[in-house]
Parts: sequence; C-alpha cells; structure tokens
Amino acid sequence: MSHITYHPQSISLEEREHKNGHRAAVLWFTGLSGSGKSTVAMALQEELFKRNCQVSTLDGDNVRQGLNAGLGFTDADRVENLRRVSEVSKLFAESGFIVLTSFISPFKNERERAREIIEPLNFFEIYVNVDLATAEERDPKGLYKKARAGEIKNFTGLDSPYEAPEKADLVISNAGQSVQEGVEQLISFLESKKII
Ligand code: ADX
Repeated sequence: MSHITYHPQSISLEEREHKNGHRAAVLWFTGLSGSGKSTVAMALQEELFKRNCQVSTLDGDNVRQGLNAGLGFTDADRVENLRRVSEVSKLFAESGFIVLTSFISPFKNERERAREIIEPLNFFEIYVNVDLATAEERDPKGLYKKARAGEIKNFTGLDSPYEAPEKADLVISNAGQSVQEGVEQLISFLESKKII
C-alpha cells in the first residue's frame, strides 16, 4: 500500500493484558444457523463480564445490520463478511479484549484466513456441533422453513455448504447439553490455555 505508514500503538498489548488481569483472545464460534452459537457466546460473555474481563461479542445477525449491511449470502459476500469480522476482531484483541465472534463461517478456507489475520494473537476455533436435522427442527427464526419453501436462496446446510471443522480447538455438543454446561466447558478451556 503506497503512502501509508503503520503508526505503532502507544500502549503495548502486554500493558493492557497486565491491567486487565487476563490475556487477549479471539474465540471464533462456528456452526449452523440455529446451532446455538450466539446463545452460548452471549452466556459466556456474561460469565466473563462477571469475572471482570474485558469482553465483546460480534454476532452475524447484528454486524450484518451495520458494518456489513449490504452484504448478502453468496459465497463472495460471506468471504467479505468474514474478512471484515476478522480484521475488527483483531483490532479488539489488540486492545486487550476477549472477543467472541458468532458467525456461521461455513468455509474452512475463511476460518483459516481468520486465524492467519488474527495470529500471533490468541485464536481459537470453537465448533458448536449440532446436526442439520436438530438445527432445522429448532428453527428459532423460521428460516429453514422459508428456505425449504424456496423463499431464501443459498441457505447454509440446504443449498449452500457447511464445511464442518476437522480440527477445532474446542467442540461444544449443543444437543443434549445445557447452555450452562457449554459455558463451563468454555471457562475450563480458557483456564487451560491460561487466557483467564
Ligand atoms: S456467514 O455465512 O457469513 O458466516 P452470518 O453468521 O454472518 O453468515 O449470518 C447468518 C445469519 O443470517 C443466520 O443466523 C440467519 O439468521 C441469517 N440468514 C439469512 N439468510 C441466510 C442464508 N441464506 N444462509 C444462512 N443464514 C442466513
């Protein structure tokens, strides 16, 4: 990029982490629509907030109403959605936050790209694993029904692919497990990685 010089931060990440009492990290949740990503991420956010952590959540349905309004669900738009979210997550993590991102992020390549953008900051892929039949039965927003009726195109799991992670850092089995159990699993994981 010509005529642009990187201006170094006046406060180091180490200083921010020291003040916060925890490490910065991005927890990249992935899973089908209706898998419970956002529910688990929001519950984790509350628990971390109670523990005085600097925490922020970026959620697909919300970010698509602001920063990413105008992006749809073609492959190219999803790629751009996730690229921007990766960059924003990096900015938050550089500011010392624990960032929870809740996007379907259906493509393996884009999840790898997110990791490349965010590392060497801590990056963890969290797979909220619920099979399509369960997500479709829950259908909390009625979108599967609409997609089956042909009212929504490129719907993940139906006529747009979901590439399930093969080597996620943590798998949450959100069928037959309570939200609280998922949060406990995540807290233990963050402790084991010495983030909190
Ligand atoms: S992603 O594929 O680019 O990661 P993102 O998480 O931002 O998707 O948005 C997914 C949310 O948008 C879903 O939870 C659902 O509420 C809504 N949505 C609307 N249309 C679609 C679609 N065609 N496929 C998947 N989700 C959709």
